[in-house]
Amino acid sequence: MTGRRDGSLMRNSANSIRGSRIAIAIGIGVFIGCVFAFCFPHGIFDPNSQIQAQRNFKNSIQVGSASCESSERVNILKKELFSASEKNSELKKQVRELTEKLRLADQGRDQAQKQFLVLGEQHKAGPFGTVKGLRTNPTVVPDESVNPRLAKILEKVAVRNELIIALANANVKEMLEVWFSNIKKAGITNYLVVALDEDIESFCTSKGVPVYKRDHDEGFDSIARTGGNHAVSGLKFRILREFLQLGYSVLLSDVDIVYLQNPFDHIYRDSDVESMSDGHNNMTAYGYNDVFDEPSMGWSRYAHTMRIWVFNSGFFYIRPTLPSIELLDRVAARLSRENAWDQAVFNEELFYPSHPGYDGLHASRRTMDFYKFMNSKVLFKTVRKDAKLSKLMPVIVHVNYHPDKLPRMKAVVEFYVNGKQDALKPFPDGSEW
Ligand SMILES: *[C@@H]1O[C@H](CO)[C@@H](O)[C@H](O)[C@H]1NC(C)=O
Repeated sequence: MTGRRDGSLMRNSANSIRGSRIAIAIGIGVFIGCVFAFCFPHGIFDPNSQIQAQRNFKNSIQVGSASCESSERVNILKKELFSASEKNSELKKQVRELTEKLRLADQGRDQAQKQFLVLGEQHKAGPFGTVKGLRTNPTVVPDESVNPRLAKILEKVAVRNELIIALANANVKEMLEVWFSNIKKAGITNYLVVALDEDIESFCTSKGVPVYKRDHDEGFDSIARTGGNHAVSGLKFRILREFLQLGYSVLLSDVDIVYLQNPFDHIYRDSDVESMSDGHNNMTAYGYNDVFDEPSMGWSRYAHTMRIWVFNSGFFYIRPTLPSIELLDRVAARLSRENAWDQAVFNEELFYPSHPGYDGLHASRRTMDFYKFMNSKVLFKTVRKDAKLSKLMPVIVHVNYHPDKLPRMKAVVEFYVNGKQDALKPFPDGSEW
């Protein structure tokens, strides 16, 4: 009997230490529970279960402090004690979970607050089928202080706050001439050449072509003059940024493009980036489900993938929004760090989702009609051989798939502008290396 009594006393004191730990744990649990009850009145945590747990603890402590009358009573006590310690670890687990939830909620609130700052008023979702997410982001407030000289030029050149721009140095002079001649012929007035050297600047001036040459700034001149394709491409994204900061939408254009109609009559303007595609049919241009087959997996041998041919970074329309400017910055930053192809980087930044260790860009995107904004593969592989398709007038033709750019550009002009039916015939579908 004595032994039992002593044992029960020891258990008693152990119990009271445990009890105080439990009380602390309960305290933390109750506190975080209150925080959550306040933040999420109906979710995440049920306060009733906590109250119930508290009651059970009180009961078990009362039972423990009562004198031991029988072994039966001790057994009950043991059971209570066991269930109390179980509840204790359960509570600890809940505290851990709640701490994590609190952290996530904090994160969520930050994001939500940012969204709210950007998007303003909150709305209830409407009925089925009527709900539409934002794809047309608000434009930034124009900031003339970024480049007052350019702002003056754009005031004169832009029409409805938009214009075509192309970067050019002396290496592409001949193509540039075909480029602006056809722009003029198509009746387009809002275009601007960003001259990368004095030769191009004076050439444009002599031809009555709107031109802008940047002031001498660090690194720019040497890259512009001597830089390879990739280095110049990186520049493009930095220069473009100023146009957007000044509040203009830009149709960025390579010079190996023939204009046949005014592209501004064929643009949707609903997305941050609207781009021509390197794709050659509905699937490749607009996206499709590409099934990957792994027979050893048996029942689940087919894995579905998403594929789309890349956006062409040589012809895209970009609206002056925060995601657009973020895109330009991300691409420019990566091109300055990596020796990468600007078009690959442009597409990766546009399309890869957020994942562990990476915050994806959330820009809205639209693929242009690949028959209106036609790449040279579509023209030479498909369109020129198709009686119906060859009668349709594209908006532009981009000789991006062929290295013999100048003769193909001239042939495109002959075919579409001068109506020479066999102008495209001498050329092979692809290049002959
Ligand atoms: C491609 O898509 C267009 C419009 O989405 C459709 O009219 C046309 O029939 C499609 N062409 C083919 C070959 O499926």
